[in-house]
Amino acid sequence: MTASTAAAGTSAGWKRTHTCGELTAEAVGQTVTLNGWVDARRDHGGIYFVDLRDRYGVTQVVIKGNLEGAAKIGPEFVLSVTGCVTARSPENVNEKRSTGTIEVVVESMTVLSESPTPPIEVIDELEAAVDTRLRYRYLDLRRGPLQKNIAHRSRFINSMRRSLEKLDFLEIETPILNRATPEGARDYLVPSRVHPGSFYALPQSPQIFKQILMVAGFDRYFQVARCFRDEDLRADRQPEFTQLDFEMAFVEESDVFAVWEQILKETFSETMGVELTIPFPRMTYAESMARFGNDKPDVRFGLELKAIDDWARSSEFKVFASVVESGGRVAGIVLPAEPSPGVKAELSRKEVEALGSVVSEYGAKGLAWWRASAEGGAGPLSRFCKDGRGAELMAALGAQEGDLCLFVADKEEVVYRALGELRLHLAKKFGLAQGDWAFLWVTEFPMFLRDENSGKWTSAHHPFTAPSDWAMPGAEEDPGGVASSAYDLVLNGWELGSGSIRIHRTDVQERVFQILGLDAKEQAEKFGFLLEALAHGAPPHGGLGLGLDRLVALTLGLDNIRDVVPFPKTTSASDLMCGAPSSVPVEQLNEVHIGLTGRALIDGAMTAE
Ligand code: AMO
Ligand code: AMP
Repeated sequence: MTASTAAAGTSAGWKRTHTCGELTAEAVGQTVTLNGWVDARRDHGGIYFVDLRDRYGVTQVVIKGNLEGAAKIGPEFVLSVTGCVTARSPENVNEKRSTGTIEVVVESMTVLSESPTPPIEVIDELEAAVDTRLRYRYLDLRRGPLQKNIAHRSRFINSMRRSLEKLDFLEIETPILNRATPEGARDYLVPSRVHPGSFYALPQSPQIFKQILMVAGFDRYFQVARCFRDEDLRADRQPEFTQLDFEMAFVEESDVFAVWEQILKETFSETMGVELTIPFPRMTYAESMARFGNDKPDVRFGLELKAIDDWARSSEFKVFASVVESGGRVAGIVLPAEPSPGVKAELSRKEVEALGSVVSEYGAKGLAWWRASAEGGAGPLSRFCKDGRGAELMAALGAQEGDLCLFVADKEEVVYRALGELRLHLAKKFGLAQGDWAFLWVTEFPMFLRDENSGKWTSAHHPFTAPSDWAMPGAEEDPGGVASSAYDLVLNGWELGSGSIRIHRTDVQERVFQILGLDAKEQAEKFGFLLEALAHGAPPHGGLGLGLDRLVALTLGLDNIRDVVPFPKTTSASDLMCGAPSSVPVEQLNEVHIGLTGRALIDGAMTAE
């Protein structure tokens, strides 16, 4: 019985024969070697019961106190133990663990690595501050839930790869050092050493390259593509994230949908045992906005928006009538006493009035409420609901006697936004969004949207999206009226992916650029290479970029993609573990012809100290 602290690598004697998750009663009597981290150590007067952990599980090992090094073993030490697998007595069996019927009685032990007291506990239910978790991400990642998330992510991607390969897709890498691809966010820039004053942009997505791959004849492409966007971060956004990006030539929208439905069906079945029903339902953008107030509806519950413009126009309630008069909208949501089977949604008057602050956050000027009744009802609207007007309003809303109705009157976009958010708020409050995988294709997005600040037309998706009618009648007079062939894939209220049929005709691409305010010179400067490529025999093509982090998070029931990204960044785009971004020595800046000015100079010098 010897113990040593031999450095790993000097002898193969320490190498594991089994993982910490696989020994069962069948192995009793065998001599085994396990490697792992000390999860917990209990001292039973000279005998230590140590839970040894690796990514496969936890095995209890029994270490006698007189074994060299035994007394100093602490949490997160890395051990190699060799000993005999022994059955536990019935009262000591741990039903919760696959290895719970046995323990390993240690005969020899090697401390492969020591650890100071860890700054965060490696336990499943950790309540440490997010910043500390990110600072010591390697410890955080050792925890069960993150081990599970990262493993699930890997299996999920591999399963998708297999499906794509079966369907004849080629995995092709596109450059990271790029020319800027406009996807609506700010670029991350990389200065060039060889070309003073010139910069590469990190790809916001492989959009242009995948289109050029279609021109190059690779009619089915995919890539697990890292994308970079310098934008405001939220729970569903990281500055670098991964897309399952794909493109197909000689296809129409329905072909793209069919392929994705097939891939998701196979992946869900293989990795989760979930059998999705395909094809997924489809809904136009206009219908989605009118019924749900946004373009990524969670269709697992009702509470849909109902327009009541006609009722409002002839109403004596001046707020409503005047809004309709001036071209705005009035719409409402009906909250029945039982919005889904078995769920009671009762709100006191005070609680109803408090809902006003939910909509005011999204720009609404008020929230009018009404307890529906054919003749009057209750709430501020009741006095305008006499003489049959109540019955009319109930009919317009599809409301029943006693239902709570909530209204916003404003510009259409404010009404949609405010009621769309109120709908989600109520669903959350009453737990209406239950179960299921509610995939949905949202189709027929507009081609152009007007930027409120600059008044300029911008692409609703991106400038390479084809119009649904190649002739784009009336586009110059009213770009807002042009329909595109862009589509989104939505899951349970999250935008999971976006795509479109692309423009493969130079004349149409030039016209679209023109409407977006790019004259011939700018077009040639920024997109000359694309226009040229399109002119050299471009097949009709289309595709999709799927947010992999979001999909993986949703399949694990998580609401923050941080938990499926191994090394995520904070909301201010910092990596707290490695300290990126960081200042760099002046010499390095000189090499890439960068001189700091103003705040960068002061802050940069301070962080360099
Ligand atoms: P889009 O810009 O809509 O389309 O992006 C596609 C999908 O990528 C995910 N996504 C993100 N995930 C995490 N963090 C982010 N910051 C982030 N930004 C986007 C979303 C989104 O639906 N080239 C087109 C696709 C195409 O047309 O084929 C594109 O990038 O899930
Ligand atoms: P008032 O007559 O101004 O007291 O408003 C009566 C009710 O209408 C109150 O509950 C207000 O919150 C609501 N209200 C006011 N403006 C709007 C609006 N633009 N949309 C919906 N409700 C409103």
